[in-house]
Amino acid sequence: MPGIVLIGTQWGDEGKGKATDLIGTKVDYVARFNGGNNAGHTVVVDGKKYALHLLPSGIINPNVIPVIGNGVVVDPEVLLQEVDSLESEGIDCSRLLLSESAHIIAPYHRITDKLTERSLGNKKIGTTGRGIGPSYADKVNRTGIRVHDLLNPDTLSEKVEGALESKNQMLEKLYGREPLDPAEITETLLKCAERLRPYVADTGLILNNALDNGKTVLFEGGQATMLDIDHGTYPFVTSSNPTAGGACTGTGVGPTRISRVIGVSKAYVTRVGEGPFPTELFDESGEWLRSHGGEFGVTTGRPRRCGWFDAVINRYAVRVNGLTDIVLTKLDVLTGLKTIPICTAYDIENPDGTHTRTENMPSDRDVFSRVSPVYEQMPGWTEDISGVSSFEELPANTQAYVKRLEELSGCRISAIGTGQDRENIISIRSLLD
Ligand code: GDP
Ligand code: IMO
Ligand code: MG
Repeated sequence: MPGIVLIGTQWGDEGKGKATDLIGTKVDYVARFNGGNNAGHTVVVDGKKYALHLLPSGIINPNVIPVIGNGVVVDPEVLLQEVDSLESEGIDCSRLLLSESAHIIAPYHRITDKLTERSLGNKKIGTTGRGIGPSYADKVNRTGIRVHDLLNPDTLSEKVEGALESKNQMLEKLYGREPLDPAEITETLLKCAERLRPYVADTGLILNNALDNGKTVLFEGGQATMLDIDHGTYPFVTSSNPTAGGACTGTGVGPTRISRVIGVSKAYVTRVGEGPFPTELFDESGEWLRSHGGEFGVTTGRPRRCGWFDAVINRYAVRVNGLTDIVLTKLDVLTGLKTIPICTAYDIENPDGTHTRTENMPSDRDVFSRVSPVYEQMPGWTEDISGVSSFEELPANTQAYVKRLEELSGCRISAIGTGQDRENIISIRSLLD
């Protein structure tokens, strides 16, 4: 013991990479449990920036064993490119452990992701186009290819042929595309397999043994609560469970081993891709947050949609994940604003023209897409907070803003991010014991 879960509370890009790196210096294992290379996690150490997609952020720390759990979907070519790129920067990746049960993303998953999006027209999800949804769909359909299949050429070619029987029909008949050659795809995958073989392991067993031996495991989520396939803004979600429960199913570790669940929340909100976003700003304030916060996607480079902090979704995230702590990030970005609105509730216009006010996330997602945010205004601050190392040293208005977010979220804020670098953090209490 202990197992610590770290997840996003909003629509992703809250700063999970930085928070993982912060805790990662004191843990033994960092395991990714969901998603794939749709994630983009940034870690900045001594001014040097690392953008991680499939590899757990713990890889930057030489004392951590990075693990890719069974719940992750792995694009073998992308994984090897990421390993090569990090090793060329002097980061040793030889400790990596890859679950033999993780499903793979094959070239046909990437192709169908893009074609499906195109065919949806203005109903598109705005996916990252990395083949995430189609790979998880094959997993659930029980036709997926897993990492251990890669290591067995006969099984692999049989499975690729099986998968392409229906996918080629779809490509040709539905989309008027050329069929894909199973032999070519098998060969590409087999080439990757040889290089991946040394990393492949029974990661569920290793993580449970580690916990039995008193080691600390940090479970690093990709995406976030509001992108969860079950609990997010369906259908504008990803195809996995980025919520805390996903840490167990995505690694093979039971819930009784988890002692802490940390939610990472941005001091405002961003979203990439389509879907409802009640506090989204369409005026110059949104543009201001985007430029001050550098809100452009790590994975796709898309500009992120920006809005004010939404306490309704944060309270929901506290509930769905059973959060014990919040790490509040990017507080420094708000410096210079005269007043800062916080969404405390939603106003819902009913079909008969009456209005209802709610402080809870509406369970009907269609209702969620037409709520109006109810704001409370907090006074801003102008002082540079990036070098501040304790909560008490923060300007009074900054302290009041943080306290209000804590009160409205219903969960203690245990650390505050005040800049990109590893050093720019205010630790209020330990996240480890
Ligand atoms: P993730 O997907 O949750 O890991 O987040 P991303 O890495 O996609 O996006 C977060 C961005 O904010 C990155 O560029 C981080 O370097 C940056 N960041 C994280 N924490 C802070 C912070 O406290 N202040 C500032 N200014 N930037 C931060
Ligand atoms: P990190 O881990 C922000 C979004 C996409 C799209 C939806 C579905 O960096 O926070 P997908 O490719 O997963 O099928 O796309 O989910 N999305 C993310 N948004 N951060 C992410 O990851 C995301 N991963 C997926 O933009 O709206
Ligand atoms: Mg990101």
